[in-house]
Amino acid sequence: MRRAVLTAAALAGALALTGCGSGAGTGADAGRDASKAELSVSSAYMPQPVSPDMAAGFLTLTNRGGGKDALTSVSSDVAGKVTMHSTVGGAMREKTSFAIPAHGRLVFKSGANHLMFEELKRSPKQGQHVTLKLTFAESGPLTVEMPVKSATYNPSTGH
Ligand code: CU
Repeated sequence: MRRAVLTAAALAGALALTGCGSGAGTGADAGRDASKAELSVSSAYMPQPVSPDMAAGFLTLTNRGGGKDALTSVSSDVAGKVTMHSTVGGAMREKTSFAIPAHGRLVFKSGANHLMFEELKRSPKQGQHVTLKLTFAESGPLTVEMPVKSATYNPSTGH
């Protein structure tokens, strides 16, 4: 009985997420502030690192809210520190903050913005997950389970 109730609640949650942003909802949207950022994470992965002490990571942050925000720091259980880099004209540059526009996206992908996991405490292997904590200027922190893919993983082909 208890299990059935939990499943129904989980299902309702999933439906609420799917319907997010349509503005058609009443109850679920009532507590929402349209001027605030509403962040979600997708397409997160780490290519299995070839270096024993450094790894890269990629993800997409989507903001469905009407307020801007900024990613201000990243930490992980597997790394002494995680730094954020942009790539401009082939040269990468460490940044302390990345803007997330209202109704927009912040994309970290191979060859462009990326996360760098430094001082690795263990060597992540394909099939495992690493845990990330994302901290923002405005929104509360998000925890991300980032899957480790092959060293040559290409998200557009899926392998
Ligand atoms: Cu870098």
